[in-house]
Amino acid sequence: MTQHPKIYVAGHRGMVGSAIVRQMLAQGHLSERIVTRTHAELDLTKQAAVNAFFAEEKPDQVYLAAAKVGGIHANNTYPADFIYQNLMVQANVIEAAFRHGVQKLLFLGSSCIYPRLAPQPMREDALLTGPLESTNEPYAIAKISGIKLCESYNRQYCASHGIDYRSVMPTNLYGPGDNYHPQNSHVIPALIRRFHEAKENYAPTVTIWGSGTPKREFLYVDDMAAASIFVMNLPKAVYDLHTSPMQSHINVGFGSDITIAQLAQAVSLATGYQGHIEFDPTQPDGSPRKLMDSTRLNMLGWQAKINLDQGLAVAYQDFIQQNSR
Ligand SMILES: NC(=O)c1ccc[n+]([C@@H]2O[C@H](COP(=O)([O-])OP(=O)(O)OC[C@H]3O[C@@H](n4cnc5c(N)ncnc54)[C@H](OP(=O)(O)O)[C@@H]3O)[C@@H](O)[C@H]2O)c1
Repeated sequence: MTQHPKIYVAGHRGMVGSAIVRQMLAQGHLSERIVTRTHAELDLTKQAAVNAFFAEEKPDQVYLAAAKVGGIHANNTYPADFIYQNLMVQANVIEAAFRHGVQKLLFLGSSCIYPRLAPQPMREDALLTGPLESTNEPYAIAKISGIKLCESYNRQYCASHGIDYRSVMPTNLYGPGDNYHPQNSHVIPALIRRFHEAKENYAPTVTIWGSGTPKREFLYVDDMAAASIFVMNLPKAVYDLHTSPMQSHINVGFGSDITIAQLAQAVSLATGYQGHIEFDPTQPDGSPRKLMDSTRLNMLGWQAKINLDQGLAVAYQDFIQQNSR
């Protein structure tokens, strides 16, 4: 293999995929050695098209950052789309990668693979120890299947074909390329939009759903991209030492969490909103805490670098740019 392996980034126009491409280019990877296809050019749920693409491009490595992603509302409204599309994308890409000689693949999962009542912080070995959160169970089942696909191909074909397929489980992510849709976005982009609009309209108060006390963890997307490239490039002996064949995934978190009230304060500062923040405790809170245990990744030598205030400042500029298009 050359010094610049040919790398396919699936989902390169998404928030994480675009950050992975940015980071690889910043690290000096040649752009002509990065292969991409938009969703319109290649629908990854179509097996024949995926096979033809791998036969034509023959990449050396794959970052699987394409997925159907959404918040609670979308997951609850379109559960069939979430389970079907994610299962198909993963199965097609992983099988075609194997059939066409891809040695290294990194699959991106999610923290929702862990049981609803998993002990906090959530360690990798909490997987499959209890019932999942019902609102996104179909999506979580697909993500768990993605981990198990990687493990099963490794177990069956590592010795004969030398393949090495790995998985990372990101916490909540935010940053450039996020989705700021008014109804269908995650908490940080939703708050950015709300505080920005409140500032523009001179609204005296912003009311946040729930008590503000639940704690959540947030990781800036460029840190996620850095962690993905770090894990992909770990020597196999090191990766194997910290994982096992049937529990091979690695959590990627910031390392600490904050309350929704603290988050709201930070977003109001980042957007320059100067009014009051109120909470509506009659609205549901969700689980009291969701924090990843990232000890495994930290032991391997990786740590998040970008703190919330730094990340929110860039994210707000990204929102302004997206909004002005
Ligand atoms: N965002 C988070 O907070 C977060 C947290 C934990 C884990 N993750 C994981 O990180 C990965 C990337 O997430 P993200 O936030 O970057 O999502 P995103 O911004 O929605 O990007 C996903 C990309 O995948 C593409 N895609 C979806 N279905 C496809 C298909 N059938 N064929 C081809 N392309 C397809 C999308 O293209 P179109 O937009 O054109 O459909 C989009 O460019 C996902 O696996 C997600 O589960 C994300």
